[in-house]
Amino acid sequence: MKRSLALLSTAILCCSALFLTGCGDNQANGGKKVLKMATEATFPPYEYFENGKVCGIDVDIVTEITKNLGYDLEVVDMKFDSVILSVQTSKCDIAASGITVTEDRKKQINFTHPYVTAAQVIIVPKESKIAKPEDLKDEKIRIAVQQGTTGDSYVATNLHEPLRYDNAGLAVAALLAAKCEAVVCDSEPAKVHVSKHPEVKILPIALTSEEYAFALNKKDTELLDGFNKELIKMRENGKLQAILDKYLNAKPE
Ligand code: ARG
Repeated sequence: MKRSLALLSTAILCCSALFLTGCGDNQANGGKKVLKMATEATFPPYEYFENGKVCGIDVDIVTEITKNLGYDLEVVDMKFDSVILSVQTSKCDIAASGITVTEDRKKQINFTHPYVTAAQVIIVPKESKIAKPEDLKDEKIRIAVQQGTTGDSYVATNLHEPLRYDNAGLAVAALLAAKCEAVVCDSEPAKVHVSKHPEVKILPIALTSEEYAFALNKKDTELLDGFNKELIKMRENGKLQAILDKYLNAKPE
């Protein structure tokens, strides 16, 4: 089942490899240079599919920045562990995918200024005996994560080998099917998953505190400067907060 779900999700991701954004200020390409944004769009509210388009906080912020820098934007959906690699190998210009700033990643790419804080949290069934992070140390507790994320590396380094899935939704599906006892994933997507599945809950104590930033190829220092200046502007003129408020204050359906 896990395997067929994983295969299905891979197939969907492959079929949907290329998308123009259509959720914000989509504009026709009047000969302007196109900037390619790498993402993994199963990460609400930062990036997710709605009516066949990738929407979310990252898309809105990058759309605003690229518009101001005079580019059109193309969003390229891929597996999360390819997102950073795609800018490193210049297949894409920017990675915007709820990416946590880490020292290891800084060796591979440049990060912009951070734009939001986040955390790794623990999701368990409502009736679970797991109540705090230390309870995950027991080797018998199977922990599911999204492959290649900071949740994956936190669990592998500080606890034990996790069960790795292509996205956090599949990890939560494994939890609902009792194929694991806990999921570790980012806080805001966790809230979205829990709002859809009343039989699971988020534990009150987080495992980490993190910052998200956009990633660029080390060679693209001019574009990095442009992004950083625009991010500062968006912080000062309230546009960044307005985008965060639009998604993060939204009440779950
Ligand atoms: N913040 C975590 C990380 O950087 C997870 C990001 C996952 N993003 C996604 N779009 N699936 O590793």
